[in-house]
Amino acid sequence: MTARSSALPSRFAGLSIKLIATIIAVILLVEVIVYLPSLASFRANWLDNRLRVGVVGARVLDAVPDAMALPRSLTDRLLTSAGAYAIVYRREGQSQLIELADPFTPDVVVTADMRQRDLPSLIMGALDTLLAGPGRTLRIVGPGDLDQTMVELLMPERPLRQEMLDYSVQVVVISLALALLTALALYLLASYLFIHPVRRLTENMLAFRQAPENGSLIITPSPRRDEIGIAERELAAMESDIFTLLRQRRHLADLGLAVAKINHDLRNTLTSAQLLSDQVATLDDPKVQRLAPRLVTTLDRAIGFAQSVLDYGRQTAVPPVLAPTPMRALVDEAAFDARLAGHPAIAFSNGVPEGLVLKVDAGQLGRALLNLLKNAREALEAAGPKVASPQVSLAVAAAPQGIVLSVSDNGPGLPPRARENLFVAFEGSARAGGTGLGLAIAREIAEAHGGQLSLVDQAIGTRFDLFLPSALLVKNQAG
Ligand SMILES: Nc1ncnc2c1ncn2[C@@H]1O[C@H](COP(=O)(O)OP(=O)(O)OP(=O)(O)O)[C@@H](O)[C@H]1O
Ligand SMILES: [Mg+2]
Repeated sequence: MTARSSALPSRFAGLSIKLIATIIAVILLVEVIVYLPSLASFRANWLDNRLRVGVVGARVLDAVPDAMALPRSLTDRLLTSAGAYAIVYRREGQSQLIELADPFTPDVVVTADMRQRDLPSLIMGALDTLLAGPGRTLRIVGPGDLDQTMVELLMPERPLRQEMLDYSVQVVVISLALALLTALALYLLASYLFIHPVRRLTENMLAFRQAPENGSLIITPSPRRDEIGIAERELAAMESDIFTLLRQRRHLADLGLAVAKINHDLRNTLTSAQLLSDQVATLDDPKVQRLAPRLVTTLDRAIGFAQSVLDYGRQTAVPPVLAPTPMRALVDEAAFDARLAGHPAIAFSNGVPEGLVLKVDAGQLGRALLNLLKNAREALEAAGPKVASPQVSLAVAAAPQGIVLSVSDNGPGLPPRARENLFVAFEGSARAGGTGLGLAIAREIAEAHGGQLSLVDQAIGTRFDLFLPSALLVKNQAG
């Protein structure tokens, strides 16, 4: 297991806080969108109410021939009830005015024309009132009660603005409370339905990853039938698979270790026996002379088997150490080790150009080539005189993204039994005394170099292509 591990976020750093924050943000956004029209309509109502008082005042003005003649106390009361400094009543081009006894001089006058009732102008007006400082005078203009009449009220803007501010504070408080309440309710629901079960899954995964050999940590799925239930059941199945696999792997590793030990001792014992048999072979007794060579070959084979199993065990663990290697020499060496160089019957041709240098693990790649060449020799030797002029060749060709070393012979071709389990360790052998490791090892080496080993179908003989990626190419010229 790797040491890397992720800790579970605290309750408010994980899903829950994201959920609550999102709900509150969405509700507040909706409130802001609703707030502006509602503020505009609040202001319009307020202004309409004032205008209505103004219209009542206008009626009084209309009823008397001369407004100036009205008693002061009456006009003042009228104006104070409307909260206005002055009321103007316009009818057919004439206008009448009542104003407070105390004269006033307005500085900044803004007009609120209540004949314009479209939403954008109402919103703009509301924002203007809210954002302006105090001290402005408001001129409310609106239709009178009769046709072609108009009423105007002059009054301070301050009370309107104050009421709008109070209203806004109320909206903010209510919105916040609503957002919090909704978020809390949704959170509790989501927590029960999703967050809690997801947390249980996450906690279980973290714990199981720390100790996958502990079977008691395998999650017990709940009977839910939704996606979370499926996830729980799948996780439980996956965890028990991993648990079984790990146990199997440990057993296999233990077994492998035992086999390696037995094999090691066996090889040493066999080597002692081989020394003895070599001595026995020197005896003059004709019977011994007849049996000794067979004894020697059998022991050779047994030692070879023990050695290759040991090598296989060792080799799989080591990654290749890459270094620039002249390939022609490497192939010559492999051919020599495969007992092809100077072979009495088989002709060998090394087609690798002198200048080809690849960055490879010379020991490992040499072994892969050795296995391929040895197989070819063994096949040709087994075929004997059935093959007219036996030959093995190693050719090089450029491939789209690399270079291919082909080992081919004109032997009998792969037996069907070998073809079935080709490249599978201990399984692929179809010849007496074969371990079935040669091709498996060669393929592993090719793959460890980022390449591939494959069988190429041919009419005559056998051909294996060893592909190596162009990244390994150091030099490909003569000299
Ligand atoms: N060039 C070839 N021509 C014919 N048959 C081949 C050739 N190369 C491999 N084979 C067949 O494939 C089988 C598997 O080869 P591999 O090298 O994996 O195992 P092996 O040669 O039997 O044993 P080992 O190489 O471990 O001593 C061989 O037994 C042989 O039958
Ligand atoms: Mg072989």
